[in-house]
Amino acid sequence: MKTHDYNKYAKSYAELGITNSYYLAFKDVPLLLEKYTNKNMRFLDYGCGTGRSLRFIKSLGYNDIVGVDISQDMIEEANKIDPKGNYNLMENSHIPYEDNTFDTIFMSYVFLEVGEYDQIVEILKEFKRVLKDKGHVIFITSIVKILKINGYPFHMISRKIIKI
Ligand SMILES: C[S@@+](CC[C@H](N)C(=O)[O-])C[C@H]1O[C@@H](n2cnc3c(N)ncnc32)[C@H](O)[C@@H]1O
Repeated sequence: MKTHDYNKYAKSYAELGITNSYYLAFKDVPLLLEKYTNKNMRFLDYGCGTGRSLRFIKSLGYNDIVGVDISQDMIEEANKIDPKGNYNLMENSHIPYEDNTFDTIFMSYVFLEVGEYDQIVEILKEFKRVLKDKGHVIFITSIVKILKINGYPFHMISRKIIKI
C-alpha cells in the first residue's frame, strides 16, 4: 500500500524534531499518557515513520513500545537512527502482532494520509484486534481548516477517547 512518496521524503523526514507547531501538537501527550497509562504497559506507535513519535514516547520513560509503518523507506531510516528500536514493516494493512497485544496505540499524523473511508475502517478494525480490553488509542492529527490558514501547518491534538 502506498500513500505519499516517502521514498523521496524519508531522509528529510528523519531530520524533523518536535519543535514549533509539532511542539504544540505533542505537548499534552505526557499528560494523556500519565492519566490513561502506566510505564509497564505495551505501546504500539502506528505509522511510526522514521521513529520520531516512538522515540518521543520512549523519552518519557515508556520503554515497551514498537512501531509499525507501511513505508519501507521510513522504517529503514528509523532503524538507521535508532538501531535498538523495534520498527516493523506492515504488509497488506496487517499489524504484525497477535490479538490483544497492546494497552495503548499511539498515532501521529497518519490519518491525514488515509484518504478512503473503507481504509480507515480497516485500520480501526486492526486496532480493535490488537488492542487489549480497556486499552486506549491516542491520536494526533490536523484539521484541514487550520492547515489552510495561510498555508501554515498548525497541529491539534484530540483529547477525545473513542471506544472501538
Ligand atoms: C507524517 S508521517 C508521521 C510519522 C510519525 N508518526 C511522526 O509523527 O513522526 C506519516 C506516516 O504514516 C505512514 N502511513 C501512511 N498511511 C499508513 C497506513 N495506512 N498504515 C500505516 N502507516 C501509514 C507513512 O508511511 C508515514 O511514515
